[in-house]
Amino acid sequence: MRKKLEKCNIVFTGFMGVGKTTVSAYIANLLNREVIETDQYIVEKANMDIPSIFDKFGENYFRDLESEAVAEISKKRGVIISCGGGAVIRKKNVLELKESGIIIRLTATPNTVLQRVKNSKERPILNGHMNTEFISSLMEKRDSFYSNAADITISTDGKTVDEIAKECIEKSITFIESK
Ligand code: S3P
Repeated sequence: MRKKLEKCNIVFTGFMGVGKTTVSAYIANLLNREVIETDQYIVEKANMDIPSIFDKFGENYFRDLESEAVAEISKKRGVIISCGGGAVIRKKNVLELKESGIIIRLTATPNTVLQRVKNSKERPILNGHMNTEFISSLMEKRDSFYSNAADITISTDGKTVDEIAKECIEKSITFIESK
């Protein structure tokens, strides 16, 4: 079935620090669309920041909130969705996101990721593990989740946000036209 880009959500996935938030905001601005971040959605609903949710209730509870967020956001159409890096671990989330639009996986090398996230305390998964070895090994463990979810994969290393955004839009149009 041929779906037009305007009717699709554009969903960003990929490891922490690959640039989902930045690219989503940039594309939302270019295409004049609303952008919704699953993490932000969770924080507003729970009225608690992500590290506190992990700290008080644990990762599984966070994943449940994340699944709820994905289910609700996926009902929308024509928006840009920026997913937390672990959102595609659950198959149900992937099915709902796929049904809602096109899934773009952004990638970056472990070293690029480290440079982008090393000064942040906002990612409990990386607390105490701020090194390329850990990032590289978690990336490898998650690789199949990202590749199974993705309709399109775009590397962000050494590119400007503008270049990445234009590549996302061009590849999305090609992908949709091939359907
Ligand atoms: C996580 C990624 C984070 C956030 C949470 C868990 C993960 O989002 O959802 O800390 O498991 O990869 P970003 O990918 O936006 O950093």
